[in-house]
Amino acid sequence: MLKEILYKIRKNPISLLQRAIFKIFIGPIKYHNGTDYDAQRYWQDRFSKYGKTLTASGDEGLSEEENCRDYELALNVMTSVFHKENINFEQIKVLEIGCGTGFYTQLLHDLKVKSYTGVDITDVLFAELNQKFSNFTFIQKDVTTDKIIDLSFDLIIMIDVIEHITSKDKLSFAMKNVQKCLKRNGIFIISPIMEISKKHLFHLHSWTI
Ligand SMILES: C[S@@+](CC[C@H](N)C(=O)[O-])C[C@H]1O[C@@H](n2cnc3c(N)ncnc32)[C@H](O)[C@@H]1O
Repeated sequence: MLKEILYKIRKNPISLLQRAIFKIFIGPIKYHNGTDYDAQRYWQDRFSKYGKTLTASGDEGLSEEENCRDYELALNVMTSVFHKENINFEQIKVLEIGCGTGFYTQLLHDLKVKSYTGVDITDVLFAELNQKFSNFTFIQKDVTTDKIIDLSFDLIIMIDVIEHITSKDKLSFAMKNVQKCLKRNGIFIISPIMEISKKHLFHLHSWTI
């Protein structure tokens, strides 16, 4: 964490300062919504700004190349988890919560998944995703407030979404949603879960197990 901040200071201190001002002062006002923040508007703005790049869903403080490198590492981890679980992808129904730019959609597509539903709080990228993955389904839903209707998924993945749910009640709703729509003996893959809860910004909270 400290190493990461020092790297960003050395790389571009002005840009880091601008982002810090936004995240500490401007963002909480701009996205203020009762006791929480307006996550739908936050992600709509973010994807409208960056489009289908990995900076949109990754770390805004890093370049696209650096985000690609980090995503490549995450892809290796995900691939090895899938491998360990010995999943027959052609036979299963998959739900991805927070599909974003479709990074993991691509992986699941490459693994020959036939039945895929991607849920996201914003539909900004859905036209592109629908075009690229025409046999997959994309649905706009806030997993912390809207019930997922289909209740029979064999595999649910939820990557880099939980830290953007900042209220305990909303987290609880989201987890019940998952519990209800996962088949018996289904697999749920979620990250990140932190050892200690340190980070808290208006749009970020690190949850422990
Ligand atoms: C950091 S991005 C991660 C995207 C993708 N899972 C990945 O790893 O590349 C977080 C994603 O979760 C979505 N998201 C955030 N809160 C959500 C919610 N309450 N319900 C559904 N999607 C949500 C955002 O729109 C965004 O696409």
